Amino acid sequence: MSSSVSVGRAPGAAPLIGHLLPLLRHPLEFLSSLPAHGDLVHMRIGPKAALAVCDPGLTRQLLLDDRTFDKGGPFYDKAKEAVGDGLVTCPYSAHRRQRRLVQPAFHSSRLPAYARVMTEQTSAVTTSWRDGQIFDVYVEMKRITAHTLVATMFSNTVDSTELTEMFDDINLIREGIFSRTVKPSLLNALPTRSNRRYLQARARLQRAMARIIAEHRSGGGGDHSDGLLSVLLSDAGSPGNSQSRRLTDTEINDQLRVFFIAGIETTAATPAWALHLLARHPHAEQHLHAEVDRVLDGAAATHGDLPDLRYTSHVVDESLRLYPPGWLFTRTTTSDTSLGGHPVRAGTTVVYSPCLIHHRADLYDDPERFDPDRWEETHRRSPSHHAFIPFGGGARKCIGDRFGLTEAIIALATIASAWRLEPLPGRRVRPALASTLSPQGLQMRARARTHPEAIRKQACEPRT
Ligand code: HEM
Repeated sequence: MSSSVSVGRAPGAAPLIGHLLPLLRHPLEFLSSLPAHGDLVHMRIGPKAALAVCDPGLTRQLLLDDRTFDKGGPFYDKAKEAVGDGLVTCPYSAHRRQRRLVQPAFHSSRLPAYARVMTEQTSAVTTSWRDGQIFDVYVEMKRITAHTLVATMFSNTVDSTELTEMFDDINLIREGIFSRTVKPSLLNALPTRSNRRYLQARARLQRAMARIIAEHRSGGGGDHSDGLLSVLLSDAGSPGNSQSRRLTDTEINDQLRVFFIAGIETTAATPAWALHLLARHPHAEQHLHAEVDRVLDGAAATHGDLPDLRYTSHVVDESLRLYPPGWLFTRTTTSDTSLGGHPVRAGTTVVYSPCLIHHRADLYDDPERFDPDRWEETHRRSPSHHAFIPFGGGARKCIGDRFGLTEAIIALATIASAWRLEPLPGRRVRPALASTLSPQGLQMRARARTHPEAIRKQACEPRT
């Protein structure tokens, strides 16, 4: 079969580490440079050869054919060791059943209840801020998203000491997965302090989840009626009501750990990047403030406000475009296949990147510019469906996409309704070297936009 696509090679691979340095040090620049070398570009992640897909149509083909382009590659192999065979990591052969059983927990009818928790948790964090206070915005956003996820999963049945331990373990595991992906395997086997801490965190989190699941099964520990975990345990999470089709406790344990790994940092990075971008674009910031003042009048945002928060939602989309938290993913081909006529052998590591697609100049006018208005339906060239993939696509598309988007919009609108976050002069913000494209060094100063009394009102008088 003759190839109709251009195939190139990324320059500058170093012995052993391949393209790791540019990929980790300057991810946006490195990925944006790849399309210049072809629609398909050979590169190396450490010692491993990989084929990067740079064309949006071929990326779509990869996402839609999840049987041939199955989960696999360096990151997923390490993630599997840490979180088992949950939805994110499981192979094609196990995916459809798992997805069917987990999907009810993310059904749109559950969103209003989850959104109530998002509003409460956002207000709890933002009402703790003081005028003039300086903090790391990403850390604050993680406080919101971590507590929201735990509260929606377990209906507030976990005590605060256990929570702190859980969050510490999740951080250690996330960092561990990433560093073990990029380091040579030999180093991962050494009994170093960081390797030991990682292994201990993995075991501890698994035990904590097992304990919570057992407690929920026995009906102890308070009201669990509408939490995400309850749905997984209930018949709602097992269509057909057949015992054999239910998720086992081990599978539920894997899913819960997957939600922690997949749902906290991604959702926190989105409003964090948005606040960073808004602080550098006063016109967009004023537009946002005008919208939240009109819609919220100083109160916290709720699920009912979402249809009126159009500009806020465009800001979130534009932040996800410029800084997609999930920036690079791998697949492994399960049989000989082809992409655009170019043969691809079974066992090839294939890379796709929302980041790379989102920064293509042929898909977005002036792609480096922060322009929330490009998402207006009336815009002369609204982005095409293929060109915007912050949640991936096909059968493996993010199951928490509505959850994450809702939370990012509620958090951003609630913050903007009461606070303006100012950048600190001379501070350099850059993407962190991690599996999530998150802002490193995002220290900002909080300035109250309203009277402190009004901010306290956000906590006391949540609207429904
Ligand atoms: C803004 C927030 C989020 C972003 C940008 C995001 C991004 C993504 C992306 C790009 C994928 C596809 C990965 C691939 O193709 O290999 C994915 C999958 C997934 N995400 Fe998210 N995610 C977000 C929030 C969440 C939340 C809140 C949860 C759960 C509570 C979650 C759970 C999952 C799961 C379980 C999968 C695997 C789905 C499957 O394979 O069936 N994500 N996410």
